Amino acid sequence: MQLKSLVVRSLLASVLGISSTLAAKSTEYIGDLTHKHLKVTRGLTPEAKRCIQCHSDKTPGHVNDWKQSRHAHVGVSCIDCHSVAKDSPMAAQNCPGVKGTHTYVSVLVSPKTCTKCHPNEVEEFNHSGHARAALQVRSKKSMQEMIHHYEGRDHPTLSDAPEATGCIQCHGSIIKLDKNKEPTPDTWPNYGIGTVYPDGGVGNCISCHSGHKFSIAESRKPAACASCHLGPDHPDIEIYNNSMHGHIFNSEGNTWKYDSAPDAWEPGDYRAPTCATCHMSGIGSLKSTHNVSRRLKWNLWAPISKLRDGGYETAETTFENTGKMTKGNPLAGNPNGSKAGRAEMEQVCKSCHITLHTKNFFKVGDEQVKLYNEYAKDGKAMITELSKKGLMLKDKWADPAFRIWFHLWHHEGRRMRQGALMGGPDYSHWHGVFEVQQDIRELRAIYNKRMKSGKIEE
Ligand code: HEC
Ligand code: HEC
Ligand code: HEC
Ligand code: HEC
Ligand code: HEC
Ligand code: HEC
Ligand code: HEC
Ligand code: HEC
Repeated sequence: MQLKSLVVRSLLASVLGISSTLAAKSTEYIGDLTHKHLKVTRGLTPEAKRCIQCHSDKTPGHVNDWKQSRHAHVGVSCIDCHSVAKDSPMAAQNCPGVKGTHTYVSVLVSPKTCTKCHPNEVEEFNHSGHARAALQVRSKKSMQEMIHHYEGRDHPTLSDAPEATGCIQCHGSIIKLDKNKEPTPDTWPNYGIGTVYPDGGVGNCISCHSGHKFSIAESRKPAACASCHLGPDHPDIEIYNNSMHGHIFNSEGNTWKYDSAPDAWEPGDYRAPTCATCHMSGIGSLKSTHNVSRRLKWNLWAPISKLRDGGYETAETTFENTGKMTKGNPLAGNPNGSKAGRAEMEQVCKSCHITLHTKNFFKVGDEQVKLYNEYAKDGKAMITELSKKGLMLKDKWADPAFRIWFHLWHHEGRRMRQGALMGGPDYSHWHGVFEVQQDIRELRAIYNKRMKSGKIEE
């Protein structure tokens, strides 16, 4: 097996204890090291051992999970991830075991820590749609209004609850610290994917690699995505279960091999693709990536689907470097545009299917997306005209016309598009286009009535 420079780097970084920038210069091939052969015998310092000893008594769950991880096997321990410099905004001594010592620890572990040993994963993640997830929830006034005004009733003490128990658990939060440098209840704990840390780090690696096992095998299974990608507005796990791939996974996936080294996980280890196979993993000559937007052609969540020709996402440059909240780029995807994104996705299919199978599948899938756009343009035009004529209620969530339009694109329209392109016929059809055609009829009836009478119906 060809050893990737990254493994060499992380190895060197951990074995020699040198910084990743130094280690990054070394890309030599240092031997045949698959996961099974990988042996690093970096001794733990007495201080590092103290964390483990005391915590195996105080918080045995963490220590047991960590013991099962690659990190334990290669000698990366509590102190490597939780200790922070004294001048870090997160520096604290709230752990009684370090109080009064020269060691500062934080309960938070930002991707800025992971990047010391895993620079490629963090950089790729920063270019993905996942990196904008927490910011996006807060960058739009209308959404904040829905959460705090409509859902939270502008309640003086309770209006944060919907966001804290809902949105941020999937999208991530912008973590705030209290006087003791402990994260606040409205921003932590969460496993939301785009969490922004006080040190400027963006992203939540535990979203897919739950702590403290940090397992590659876990992240390759559909369950790693299913905790967020479900429900009426993005039923990706339901679509997967409906597809022939999900059918095969559900009947025999428990017998497959998930712990192969990165870029060495290939058909044979599995018979059908999981979410990770299509969106992230290396397969054939295609390289593995933490940028889940890279292989996409369309934007399938927006009211109208456009081609992803906006280059890379920019979370890293817009937030990390400036600390300012900036809207993410909804058309970001492959650095070489939507055609290149689709070509990479087709490369995945072609490891198992012939070219004709793949081309035919995407031809009709793309047609379903374009058909959806026809409906959406009609719906949007009606809503725009009603608004212009003052024929929409001020409280839009009380207005049936607005609610139908919202469901058309946000729920059934996403199901129609995502069902079509991931092979889930029930979602493409019954939960998708069938309901979209019902919605447009209902919306048109309201539109006709209001335009004719010049009034909003009772
Ligand atoms: C590879 C890095 C890494 C290592 C090694 C590591 N942790 Fe963590 N730890 C994390 C991350 C990431 C989180 C989640 C933080 C968040 O929610 O922002 C976390 C969370 C925690 C928490 C708070 C979460 C809870 O459920 O209570 C404690 C306490 C903790 N770790 C202790 C430990 C101890 C003790 C060890 C050593 C046995 C250890 N950690 C090793 C990365 C690490
Ligand atoms: C003598 C015992 C002891 C030692 C040694 C010790 N800890 Fe702790 N640590 C604790 C206890 C007890 C808690 C609090 C647990 C709770 O609140 O339930 C804690 C809490 C923590 C927390 C959460 C802090 C917070 O903000 O609430 C982290 C992170 C942590 N320890 C990491 C470490 C690391 C890293 C080391 C080694 C440098 C270490 N601990 C050494 C006993 C110890
Ligand atoms: C001090 C260096 C270091 C730090 C910090 C570190 N790791 Fe690792 N990590 C390693 C090494 C070394 C390996 C094993 C070599 C390999 O598989 O590439 C590894 C392996 C992994 C794996 C693969 C596990 C498997 O099952 O094969 C994951 C996932 C991972 N780390 C995630 C993280 C995350 C997330 C963080 C931050 C919360 C983090 N690491 C912080 C050094 C580190
Ligand atoms: C903790 C929740 C969470 C998990 C786990 C998660 N995602 Fe996501 N995902 C999100 C959120 C939130 C978004 C929307 C981000 C945005 O655009 O603001 C998203 C967006 C996406 C997108 C679209 C990106 C874009 O540019 O529009 C893809 C593709 C995706 N996820 C795939 C995956 C896959 C594959 C997995 C599992 C390997 C996964 N996700 C795991 C929450 C999650
Ligand atoms: C169960 C997890 C989950 C919850 C809860 C959740 N979302 Fe999402 N959200 C997602 C996923 C997954 C996507 C990506 C859908 C796709 O790519 O098709 C997404 C997409 C979005 C998008 C479009 C992406 C973008 O960049 O603009 C917005 C906006 C959004 N969510 C806002 C919210 C708000 C506001 C809340 C709370 C009121 C919320 N979400 C609650 C998982 C969730
Ligand atoms: C959306 C889910 C998801 C998130 C979030 C995620 N990972 Fe991963 N990660 C994966 C998958 C899937 C793989 C396996 C890829 C493959 O099969 O090639 C993986 C593999 C890895 C590996 C092993 C690769 C190697 O070369 O050894 C490391 C290290 C890693 N991730 C670190 C991270 C870090 C650090 C973060 C946070 C910035 C992170 N991951 C966030 C899904 C995720
Ligand atoms: C057989 C390959 C395959 C599998 C398996 C798969 N997907 Fe997809 N996924 C696709 C394709 C193809 C698209 C449409 C890409 C395009 O052309 O834009 C897509 C689109 C998406 C989108 C929509 C992005 C947007 O623009 O809104 C999300 C989210 C997503 N997938 C998540 C998942 C999750 C989560 C799973 C597992 C439950 C999964 N996918 C399984 C191939 C796959
Ligand atoms: C790891 C191998 C693998 C990959 C990768 C893969 N598939 Fe499949 N796919 C299968 C298997 C196996 C079946 C069941 C074949 C059968 O029943 O003859 C299947 C079935 C299908 C079916 C149902 C129709 C049929 O022939 O059974 C479609 C559609 C499909 N795949 C499309 C895709 C697309 C599109 C991609 C890429 C985005 C893809 N597949 C990637 C293995 C794979």
